[in-house]
Amino acid sequence: MAKKNLSSRAAFITIEGLEGSGKSSVISYLSSFLKKRGFRVKVFREPGSTCVGEKIREILLDKKNSRLSVHTELLLYLAARTQLIEEKLFKALGLFDIVICDRFFDSTLVYQGFGLGLGKIAESSVKMFSLGLDPDLTLVLDTEPLKGLRRLKKKDRIESRPLTFHSRLRKGYLALAEKFPKRIKVINAGGSLEDIFPQVSKQIDIFLSRYARKRINP
Ligand code: TMP
Repeated sequence: MAKKNLSSRAAFITIEGLEGSGKSSVISYLSSFLKKRGFRVKVFREPGSTCVGEKIREILLDKKNSRLSVHTELLLYLAARTQLIEEKLFKALGLFDIVICDRFFDSTLVYQGFGLGLGKIAESSVKMFSLGLDPDLTLVLDTEPLKGLRRLKKKDRIESRPLTFHSRLRKGYLALAEKFPKRIKVINAGGSLEDIFPQVSKQIDIFLSRYARKRINP
């Protein structure tokens, strides 16, 4: 498909998934796939992509911070997000055609909401501190938790949590995908990258044609 004039505001695509699900490979594939089609693409990651966000990321992932309370953890993820949105995302959405974020608020709903049991608190605070920004498309890379964890060389504070935690995350992502079927598309990420990439391009093509149509006939 040729480059389309999407709109004055970039399409906002988020990539989600369990640990070791292949997000980084998918994001670099997706970014070059879109650039080859002439789109101006910007990629961010969460938590991070700002000076403050990267510092918060270090606190969150540092295994030494074993006493971080669940509510503090939630607030730190939200803080990194508002910093990214206010400092960079809003601006980027006006400057690029497609903005990709490696994780966004679904991670909080799943990791802190489902994983840590913060449910409704995570839901309402996520709503408040996403500052009205909703992804237009979310790809969830679905894989067996153990398979993903085995791919990791060194585990951080979150990755080191027990398998039961990671299994809850998978259920959480699938529940969200069922709740928001228009926005969230599940990619079977259990196989090789050669199996995963075509699924990604298919979903992106469907999204781009629908998105362009919506912009022309809102
Ligand atoms: P990453 O290593 O995939 O970039 O993500 C950082 C870690 O933070 C990962 O274990 C998922 C976790 N996380 C949350 O628990 N809640 C969130 O809101 C976000 C964005 C990430």
